[in-house]
Amino acid sequence: MEKTISNLQKWRYVAGQSARVAWYAGHYAAINRIRGPLVRAGEQPFRPSGAIPDIRSLAREIRTLFDRDLKNVVAGYYRAPEMRDDPRRLVDKSLRFLLDARRVEARRQADRHNDVNMRHGSNIYPDYYLQNFHYQTDGWLSEGSAELYDTQVEVLFAGTADAMRRQALVPIADYLEGRDQRHVHLADIGCGTGRFLREIKRNWPRLNVTGVDLAPDYLEKTKRALRRWSRTRTLQAAAEALPFEKASQDIVTASYLFHELPPEVRTRALCEVVRVLKPGGRFILIDALQAGDRTSMDGLLEFFPRAFHEPYFETYLAEDFEHRLAADMSLLSTTSGYLTKVMCFQKHII
Ligand SMILES: C[S@@+](CC[C@H](N)C(=O)[O-])C[C@H]1O[C@@H](n2cnc3c(N)ncnc32)[C@H](O)[C@@H]1O
Repeated sequence: MEKTISNLQKWRYVAGQSARVAWYAGHYAAINRIRGPLVRAGEQPFRPSGAIPDIRSLAREIRTLFDRDLKNVVAGYYRAPEMRDDPRRLVDKSLRFLLDARRVEARRQADRHNDVNMRHGSNIYPDYYLQNFHYQTDGWLSEGSAELYDTQVEVLFAGTADAMRRQALVPIADYLEGRDQRHVHLADIGCGTGRFLREIKRNWPRLNVTGVDLAPDYLEKTKRALRRWSRTRTLQAAAEALPFEKASQDIVTASYLFHELPPEVRTRALCEVVRVLKPGGRFILIDALQAGDRTSMDGLLEFFPRAFHEPYFETYLAEDFEHRLAADMSLLSTTSGYLTKVMCFQKHII
């Protein structure tokens, strides 16, 4: 349903998003100052197959994303984003992030990526999971890692991560139109700190949602992010062994999970999504652009796994999700915003 948005509200949106970009891009610039050479001693120089976009074209892509985000709000797909970051918390997070950045850089220079915190014991975690993705401190397994995560993602995406995730609210809104939220079950796999689930509950407070992740401290943060709503739960489980009955979920979402899975695990996780979805249910995949989606970005996408520890990203770039899922699902829509794309699949009805 189309909404009327006052000029003041529009101005608040633009001012709020611009401030976010300035804040997080400033952090990116700060860590660039402590960053050593991107090509480590003994490594082959990086030769991308395409050009790396310059700052101006990235800024243009960001503006396009924000234009679409605001249009979606005006079109009534979802609520305007919250703009109430507590300045003290923001500064505290910023300091922690900057202090940690040196440790991350030391790990990167030494290419040390098996330096994870094993406090929780290792037997329940698959080997591929026990790595320092992005050379992050402790891997996925500490409170400190969960505390820093949202800032790290926003710095990486120059303050656009929330806006990129919000694009996935459109296919959710489409599915929910004319349905009673109370009878709809949504599972977010690899839910992380619950950032996306929180946005979902802000918009559809009576929806039944489950956050699934392997990391206990991230699940704790998800619980806290969702505490003001009912019909929420969190489960510690792997995407490739989902703790749901067959055909029990109406919607499954996964944001920035699939590029972190080895190819064979990716296949198993897709089979699990097919198994747990009801016929006609939706699978909404939110992840990085892939090779060829926007050729002007291909060089940057190739650069990403070189600069950060992302061991499965190259195979993700070439993964043909539509083809892989064709026997069980049809692709309903694909949209992209800045560095992310959102694909919405429907499970075949028979
Ligand atoms: C890059 S983060 C994405 C988090 C969140 N969805 C977001 O949008 O920011 C990947 C998340 O997936 C989780 N994860 C990675 N492999 C997993 C697996 N096999 N099963 C369940 N969760 C997994 C990690 O613990 C982490 O929280």
